Amino acid sequence: MNHPVNNTEESAPMFLRASGITKKYKEHRAVDNVTLEIDQGEVVSIIGPSGAGKSTFLRCINFLEMPTEGTVSIGKESVAVRTDSRLPSRAELAAIRRSVGMVFQSFNLFPHLTALRNISLAQERVLGRSGEEADEKSYQLLKRVGLDKKATAYPGQCSGGQQQRIAIARALALDPLVMLFDEPTSALDPEVGAEVLAVMRELADEGMTAIVVTHEMSFARDVSDRMVVMVDGSVVEEGDPHAIMSAPSHERTRQFLSAVVGR
Ligand SMILES: Nc1ncnc2c1ncn2[C@@H]1O[C@H](COP(=O)(O)OP(=O)(O)OP(=O)(O)O)[C@@H](O)[C@H]1O
Ligand SMILES: [Mg+2]
Repeated sequence: MNHPVNNTEESAPMFLRASGITKKYKEHRAVDNVTLEIDQGEVVSIIGPSGAGKSTFLRCINFLEMPTEGTVSIGKESVAVRTDSRLPSRAELAAIRRSVGMVFQSFNLFPHLTALRNISLAQERVLGRSGEEADEKSYQLLKRVGLDKKATAYPGQCSGGQQQRIAIARALALDPLVMLFDEPTSALDPEVGAEVLAVMRELADEGMTAIVVTHEMSFARDVSDRMVVMVDGSVVEEGDPHAIMSAPSHERTRQFLSAVVGR
């Protein structure tokens, strides 16, 4: 995707900026001073070996995990965490969380609710939409992920790939500014994983802003505008996905790529 640069707005804040994010577990720095900016409509993939801190970083962006230090700004909202000051208030966190949709490896759908109601529930609770209004939006989203025929099905009657597409629709239903995906296909068979990746690719083409942690290298190369390589809590390399994959500049990236690409 191309992002025209408007020189008159050079100093305008990025769409999302997570800066100086550090997360310590005791003395272990799972995420060590990571900064990531993403522009509207951009898709950034984060790759790296197990334990690199990819999930922890993603979870810090929407405060599912409280960073030890760092600032997250999305749109007009900004929340800073400092070791020497009070933690952000619930209201401050809620404002950021509302702007961010998250899709996990495990789909976490409510088993006793239909696909449609799984998508409607948070719209009613968080956004105060009426049941009718929420269901209409949910139905449109199910259509968008190719599952309108499953509206009245329960999660147990859907394949893993279908459940993940329902989970994506659920996250989109709150009209987030940014979507975060944490290895959305790694629990799926390759075939159904491909259906999920196809939906993500369509959403990216339609302008979704997203940060995607993935081991799907062809997806990362072909769909993301930018690739970030994390190792041991830090970003070791960042740039054009094709360039990184064909000529990584960091030894750890080379090691990681030869391990995943040869798999
Ligand atoms: N709740 C926790 N308590 C203590 N340590 C944790 C906790 N969560 C994560 N860690 C540690 O933080 C580091 C980063 O973990 P994280 O799950 O973010 O890695 P990852 O890059 O997502 O790995 P994977 O590719 O396996 O998902 C690891 O060393 C992990 O053991
Ligand atoms: Mg992870």
